[in-house]
Amino acid sequence: MNFKADEEKMPCVTQTEDELVVSEPATVENRYLLSRGYSSNIRVNTQHYLWKEGLYLLHPSIPINGENLRVAEIGVGTGIWLSEMARILPGSAQLDGFDVSHAQCPPSKFLPSNVSLYIHNCLEDPPSDLLEQYDIIHIQMFNSVVENNDPEPVVRNMVKMLKPGGYISWSEFDFATWKTISSTGDKPSDSLDRLLWYNATAGNTKPVNFLATHWPLELPEIYARNNLSEIVTERAPFATDVAAYMLDTFLLAAEELSFNVLDHLGGGQGDVARDLIKQVERERRDITIQLDRLIAVGRRSRRKLILHIYPTAFPVFPRCKIPKKKVNINKAAPRRVSKAAVETRTRKLSRKALKVLKNKGYNKVEEPSLNNKDTI
Ligand SMILES: C[S@@+](CC[C@H](N)C(=O)[O-])C[C@H]1O[C@@H](n2cnc3c(N)ncnc32)[C@H](O)[C@@H]1O
Repeated sequence: MNFKADEEKMPCVTQTEDELVVSEPATVENRYLLSRGYSSNIRVNTQHYLWKEGLYLLHPSIPINGENLRVAEIGVGTGIWLSEMARILPGSAQLDGFDVSHAQCPPSKFLPSNVSLYIHNCLEDPPSDLLEQYDIIHIQMFNSVVENNDPEPVVRNMVKMLKPGGYISWSEFDFATWKTISSTGDKPSDSLDRLLWYNATAGNTKPVNFLATHWPLELPEIYARNNLSEIVTERAPFATDVAAYMLDTFLLAAEELSFNVLDHLGGGQGDVARDLIKQVERERRDITIQLDRLIAVGRRSRRKLILHIYPTAFPVFPRCKIPKKKVNINKAAPRRVSKAAVETRTRKLSRKALKVLKNKGYNKVEEPSLNNKDTI
């Protein structure tokens, strides 16, 4: 492969919160909103174990018994999914992890010998060495990474990496099902909803990001548009005790965002978020959350799709032998969307998310200003 592998070739990764300034030069590395220190590693690993509680590591509709399986994970976090998958897959499987940083992973030498890590930005076209290479591609918890609330560019790039007949599995929280519930039977306070909204809109300054409730639900439709079929979806609510543990990981993520994003806005927004976190912490003995997990599996069709197009001149020269023109629609040009269309869509979706929160009884939110066109 002609792209960077292993730690030696990796860019220097910042560990302190101060260095993860999102408003600074827009490299993919520093656009990542969460932290990469040891407490974030614990958050990511805890989320991994809680996520599969009562569920599975990989959707059971995906066959894993073949020989020489090639499995990829996009956005590996700490690499824990790859390590665990390596233990259950046949020894002949090769697992490759793609991420913009491997700072959260153990040293490559200590990973299972059939796991390799590569630096790759999934928002960019995969290099030719990666085209049609994988039987299975796994991606999970990408809501803070997907840009403009549109996962289609990521899906499109993953489909290019799939062998014909290969599978994609994408798992996300369904924030549309988010609800704070109280163990006392009293109406819970709105501090948790306010905290989530405040973080997702960068202190009410930007369109809602990563709390967006629509796009995980659109994955099956996006799969179908991108040559995936045999689509399987699953919705799995967290048990209430598991959800309470998950809540702690959200508070940790909210704290990371308050340092990495809100503090850099300069208006004291980080302090507002941390006050809300303290408030939720005080209520923590009496509340938990309700939340569903969504899993969408799709399969790339086995054969390349070839369309036979007959030139329109045919009826005029019936005796001429005109060759068929083959068009490989797997290589069709990507759909282009104008910036204005993306902004309109984001504005519409922000309003939708606002309505969901208002319906939940939280009505003090202001509609985020769209004057600043940056997205967090
Ligand atoms: C929230 S973590 C999820 C990690 C893992 N999938 C899990 O479920 O534990 C998101 C991961 O995506 C990576 N990431 C961010 N932007 C990316 C990009 N453009 N291409 C590939 N990976 C990216 C981050 O570095 C981080 O490791």
